[in-house]
Amino acid sequence: MLAVAVLAAGKGTRMKSDLPKVLQPLAGATLVERVLGSCRALDPQRQILIVGHQAERVEQSLSQHGGLEFVLQQPQNGTGHAVQQLLAPLADFEGELLVLNGDVPLLREETITALLERHRTSQAAVTLLTARLDDPTGYGRVFADASGHVSAIVEHRDCSEEQRANNLTNAGIYCFNWSKLAAVLPQLSTDNDQGELYLTDTVAMLSPAMHVEVADADEINGINDRYQLAQCEAVIQQRLRRHWMAEGVTFVDPESCTLSDGTRFGRDVVVEPQCHFRGNTNVGRGCRIGPGSFLENASVGEEVEVLYSVVRDAVVADGCTIGPYAQLRPGTELARDCRIGNFVEIKKSQIAAGSKVNHLSYIGDAQLGENVNVGAGTITANYDGVTKHRTVIGAGSKTGANSVLVAPITLGANVTVGAGSTLTKDVPAGALALGRAKQLIKENWS
Ligand code: UD1
Ligand code: CA
Repeated sequence: MLAVAVLAAGKGTRMKSDLPKVLQPLAGATLVERVLGSCRALDPQRQILIVGHQAERVEQSLSQHGGLEFVLQQPQNGTGHAVQQLLAPLADFEGELLVLNGDVPLLREETITALLERHRTSQAAVTLLTARLDDPTGYGRVFADASGHVSAIVEHRDCSEEQRANNLTNAGIYCFNWSKLAAVLPQLSTDNDQGELYLTDTVAMLSPAMHVEVADADEINGINDRYQLAQCEAVIQQRLRRHWMAEGVTFVDPESCTLSDGTRFGRDVVVEPQCHFRGNTNVGRGCRIGPGSFLENASVGEEVEVLYSVVRDAVVADGCTIGPYAQLRPGTELARDCRIGNFVEIKKSQIAAGSKVNHLSYIGDAQLGENVNVGAGTITANYDGVTKHRTVIGAGSKTGANSVLVAPITLGANVTVGAGSTLTKDVPAGALALGRAKQLIKENWS
């Protein structure tokens, strides 16, 4: 039997934030979500989150996460004290307890699986994850012999000068034999620089205690402050870009672009500098995105070009070109081969194939048929101050420059709207609509 406990009760003082540390976001997911994700494949019998500081907020953030038990640690008197809270809920439990620090978000599933396997084959009382860090400042140091047996862990602040020179670092990830750990947990003392109960002290009380060194030291990065948060973000971004480059995506200036876990690309996509992908964004084969674009929950077909533009909660079909400087807001749906040009904003509108909105327009709550040509500066006046109204423009219609279509309004197919018109009434198919003052000429007036 396997139980997993994630330590997430701490305040995260060094973050200087109103947000509990484990709720800090990293590439679109919170720290605690990432930690829970890293042990998903183990399919544990029990999954426990130890909460304390802003417990309700942490619990609420995970309300969609099935099968989690929350155990309250009040007050937060150290990592050992946190695990002592499991003595009651795990009183009848037999098996292994995997303990994960809630602020170590880069662990790979394979690493945890390997830790568990090593623990089982060596029949250790505890097996912990370590790494050799170039700069182990702040981390607990692990004292071990050549055969991997650990004698003790000493926290950075409790180390002598000589002990600090040891760069074998405690990751904060442990696999315990639960009944053996349960027997020593009550013996922890607060005899240390912080006056807290340290989980790390149990290691010297358990035998055999073993460690497994990770190959990639980045994996054990712990996050205590904003600088470490930024470093972890950089590691995740690097992993994501590498993954997609291996799948056939070109990044012209990789470091300048950011991705989310939910970003997907087809082959031969070219991502120009300064592009950002958030949420669940899909970009189809052969697209050219950027420079300077932001896509969030966007579904983009194949061979689409997006230049200096923002696309949010919108669907863009094959062959469209967007920008420069366009904004597609939530609910925009473009069918194939549409062209959305500069300084155009589109919201909650369906635009059929081959239509063009090329310059300086606002199209909101509208439905456009195929091959509509929206003239420069055309505005759908969709809001009367109280409610929003729809505009419908039939296939093949053209609006002249600077027209205002006051919704609700329907233009039939193949309508032509004269430049500068303000239309408030429906227009039948095939008609010319003019809604502007007649031009007056007064000769020899000056
Ligand atoms: C801890 C380890 C250190 C290790 C490092 C790895 C101890 C004593 N030290 O130090 O050896 O190198 O992690 O990142 O364990 N927490 C609680 N309740 C508490 C205190 C903390 O749930 O009372 C949680 C925190 O929310 C956090 C985790 O435990 O998720 C680690 O706590 P933190 O204070 O960050 O420990 P470190 O000083 O980083
Ligand atoms: Ca920490």
